[in-house]
Amino acid sequence: MARDRGFVCSECGAGHPKWSGRCDACGAWNTLVEDAAAARPRQPARGRLLQPTDLATAEPPPPRTEAGVAELDRVLGGGLVPASALLLGGDPGIGKSTLLLQAAARFARNGLRVLYVSGEESAAQVQIRAARLGLTESPVRLLAHAGLRDVLATLEEERPHLAIIDSIQTMWLDSVDSAPGSVSQVRACAHELTMLAKSRGVSVVMVGHVTKEGALAGPRVVEHMADTVLYFEGDRGHQFRILRAVKNRFGPADEIGVFEMTGRGLVEVRNPSALFLAERGTPAPGSVVFAGIEGTRPILCEIQALVAPAAPGSARRSVVGWDGGRLAMLLAVLDARAGLSFGGLDVYLNVAGGLRITEPAADLAVAMALVSAQAQRALEPHEVVFGEISLSGAVRPVAQTENRLKEAAKLGFTSAILPVLPKRAAGSGLRLREIPDLVSAIRLHLGQT
Ligand code: TYD
Ligand code: MG
Repeated sequence: MARDRGFVCSECGAGHPKWSGRCDACGAWNTLVEDAAAARPRQPARGRLLQPTDLATAEPPPPRTEAGVAELDRVLGGGLVPASALLLGGDPGIGKSTLLLQAAARFARNGLRVLYVSGEESAAQVQIRAARLGLTESPVRLLAHAGLRDVLATLEEERPHLAIIDSIQTMWLDSVDSAPGSVSQVRACAHELTMLAKSRGVSVVMVGHVTKEGALAGPRVVEHMADTVLYFEGDRGHQFRILRAVKNRFGPADEIGVFEMTGRGLVEVRNPSALFLAERGTPAPGSVVFAGIEGTRPILCEIQALVAPAAPGSARRSVVGWDGGRLAMLLAVLDARAGLSFGGLDVYLNVAGGLRITEPAADLAVAMALVSAQAQRALEPHEVVFGEISLSGAVRPVAQTENRLKEAAKLGFTSAILPVLPKRAAGSGLRLREIPDLVSAIRLHLGQT
């Protein structure tokens, strides 16, 4: 029988029916290797009969252990789940090792046996970091070793509650014949570690470095295996760091935790809205405060736009913290539905503080920032904006209106530009300026003095 996937690329994991010198999927040379799984003959024997169970269970939910750091526990969905596999991804140098060493110490203080395995740094380097973080007294055990076979044997023997593997790309298995960090190694190591997590009840946290394109190095194999996938993000020029749950089998995804990197490690930020708005002076043209929601929590942040005449034939669109495609869409809607053209203009859009926003609810805030920048007219002080914009130019309602308004009121804002509400929002005390579409929003803005 013809096999359709006899070879795999050890760089990107793509399958190929025939060997060739170059992978069509990622373009790498000399990376195709025979896929052991595909090469194995099919088993003719019939499988065992399995016994399905009911959906209902008498088992209580697994007891979680909290770190005692609210920003971390919330992202975990209420604490660490025993026997779970967790992946922490992020750019090199963003603070993953720092976060995990601090978390390890917290969990150890709350009674867990913790083993920190560093394949990247020597024991002395980790000890220096521990000293800097004031954690030398913590009962966390340390291992500087990259051979996974030995690490697995040690874990089997020691059975810690929590094992931290820093990083999965440095680990290697002697049974896999490719270099550490290659897809086959990462896949095999992550597989062994997740199996160990399930069979021995050890919670395993794997650190994964992200490539420049924003993907975890190698294919997303580890993401599929892990129960929980967290990303640690931030702009290295800023001290703020955001821990984001992108997948969580034991809690809500999209939840974020906010930290600040200081000279003595990461400090949690209890009131991120205040922090993201801290650098804001008197409202300038192009500046809008967006009342957003991240996970279960409202967060206010400032969106800044700048438009300037472009060199002929080369209008630039530059975006930090928001989606470039979404900006292009809004510019097209502003042009088609409100007659505001940005052709011939450079457009710069920035979310202040290094935050990255993915909510469509920010559409109206971005549009207002663009309109305000082009008209050189600031919004009213103490005003927040939110709402989704459709291609027709209508402003559509978004989820959690009351939470957004409450947060705005808490931070001293007095009015809001928002979609028309189906029912009255409970007393936030804000002046609500409900608008049905983009044209009314622009009129409202340009009509005021
Ligand atoms: P690190 O945790 O090593 O990053 P990663 O594991 O993601 O590669 O942190 C790297 C940066 O953090 C490094 O540039 C120094 C800085 N840092 C601080 O600012 N304060 C601290 O207390 C520590 C430990 C690190
Ligand atoms: Mg590190």
